[in-house]
Amino acid sequence: MSKGTLRAYLDFAPREESFRDVALAGLTRHRKAIPCRFLYDARGSELFEAICNLPEYYVTRAEIALLAERAGEIAARIGPRARLIEFGSGASTKVRLLLAALDRPASYVPIDISGGMLHPAASAVAADFPALAVIAVCADYMEPLRLPALVRLTTDRRVGFFPGSTIGNLTPEEAVVFLRGCRELLGPGGAMIVGADLKKDAGVLHAAYNDAAGVTARFTLNLLARMNRELGADFNLKRFAHEAFYNPDAGRIEIYIRSLMDQLVTIAGRRIGFTAGERVHVEYSYKFSVDEFRRLALRAGFKPVDCWTDAENRFSVHYLVA
Ligand code: AVI
Repeated sequence: MSKGTLRAYLDFAPREESFRDVALAGLTRHRKAIPCRFLYDARGSELFEAICNLPEYYVTRAEIALLAERAGEIAARIGPRARLIEFGSGASTKVRLLLAALDRPASYVPIDISGGMLHPAASAVAADFPALAVIAVCADYMEPLRLPALVRLTTDRRVGFFPGSTIGNLTPEEAVVFLRGCRELLGPGGAMIVGADLKKDAGVLHAAYNDAAGVTARFTLNLLARMNRELGADFNLKRFAHEAFYNPDAGRIEIYIRSLMDQLVTIAGRRIGFTAGERVHVEYSYKFSVDEFRRLALRAGFKPVDCWTDAENRFSVHYLVA
């Protein structure tokens, strides 16, 4: 294949998980909950894009500014001829800042579960970086050890990239398991670059998840709309509210859907009751101090060697050695 095009596209997408089964199981348990990965259908992904541009949601802007400012230093840490593996690559936007600064990167391996997003994004990177071998892998990046051997087979140093503070949407236990899997995949001498949102003033955090235009509320409640669209449910969205707050003891934003009244809803043919004030948990977003994140990385067997933060101390990018 000529340069400037995708070197390989590997389809390891797992069998699609049943939204119906997960939603029914989550809504019939004592503490109702639906995992946050179901927030991202096509409409949810569109709304998340809009969140990233909100004045209150500093996360994306802070990380991009930090990567742009420190790309040279990060690239120097990575060194020449590395294989860069991105977990959950989406539109492959932020990685371009690193690719442009790296010394003759050997290859770029974007991994994403959504083939519809992965193929065009990886092809665009290949076109813009013609000397780079781009190997796209459609797979569940949360299971690094089940990735194809081709991701591992290389004498180049493997460096993982996990931006966006997506690590904060995992519980600390899940984050340690995920990072351990990454460490094994990256092998001895490998490294990992992780973007993590920093602890900060609770008012700033509250505003970031309760924007004035109500986009985050629409993003959360889209989960109910998705059940109406895909599972024949009859949720009346006016009878539910988005609820997000910072829990300082747990160091996380907690997001719920709150029922505004006693009500019965039919979902996939099942009648499910909600009492007034009852909540459905949909997401955690953990915030870390630099030291807290380093301790988490140590638990996963990584050695934290560098950390860059922005001037306003909003966001951190960690460099961890396997
Ligand atoms: C994707 N993730 C890092 C976002 C966050 O900030 O935790 C998801 C999000 N949920 C509501 N707003 C943003």
